Amino acid sequence: MSQITVRQMNFDFPEQIEKYWYGNSPFKTHFFNSITLLFPDGEQFMLRTVKRQLKHIDNPQLKQEASAFVGQEAQHAVQHEKFWQNLRQHGYEFDSYLRFLRFVLFNLCETRLSIKFKLAMIAGVEHFTNVIAELTLKEELFAEADPKLKELFEWHSAEEIEHKTVAYDVLQNVTKSYPIRLLGILMAYTFVLGFVNLGLIMMLYQDKKLLNIRVWQEMIQFFFTKEKFVLKVFLHSLEYLRTNFHPSQRDNLFLAKKVTG
Ligand SMILES: [Fe+2]
Ligand SMILES: [Fe+2]
Repeated sequence: MSQITVRQMNFDFPEQIEKYWYGNSPFKTHFFNSITLLFPDGEQFMLRTVKRQLKHIDNPQLKQEASAFVGQEAQHAVQHEKFWQNLRQHGYEFDSYLRFLRFVLFNLCETRLSIKFKLAMIAGVEHFTNVIAELTLKEELFAEADPKLKELFEWHSAEEIEHKTVAYDVLQNVTKSYPIRLLGILMAYTFVLGFVNLGLIMMLYQDKKLLNIRVWQEMIQFFFTKEKFVLKVFLHSLEYLRTNFHPSQRDNLFLAKKVTG
């Protein structure tokens, strides 16, 4: 039986949430705002691809897990999108960004890539989210954040860890090719890093903070010297390159259980 639980959440984000909701830091706030702009459409792409694949999965356990994956990602998309309203209230405009994102996701990736490459890319994205989810929970990354956003990101992180094996196993069910898996993670990291940075620059620019020295200092601290976010993500990501890699090899489910109870 599947150990993955689809939880129907009902987040609401009051208007009073601070503009710089992450420890009064414009950099960290916009970094995670950018991730929040990317999630809903990214997750739609992933869940639609896996949903279409369900009928080709013979293993009943994997089929059940894959349909729970679809349910969890749908919840993530809906709950993160609710925060867009708060961003709009602060005057940010991201319709053009979304148009570009949707063009790349739905007009290029979804329609042009073969199912093998789509699944390889999704398995790669899922490795990325698992790496970030573990970091979020292990290091209590959101300790300084607004409690509602902390709850949103920690719940999402817990479910990412919970379903970390699914996309990988669905890919393996279609192809066990190492080069395809490798190309998939390269596409995934290029796509995610590209859009997260694009969103970050867009938000900082609209906030007139792009050339602010304090913002760049925060960036260097968060990425490289204090939290060492980029270094940790990079090192952990390398696991995926092992030929005998499987997402279950890393022991982090206990972190998810601490959140979900
Ligand atoms: Fe998700
Ligand atoms: Fe996921």
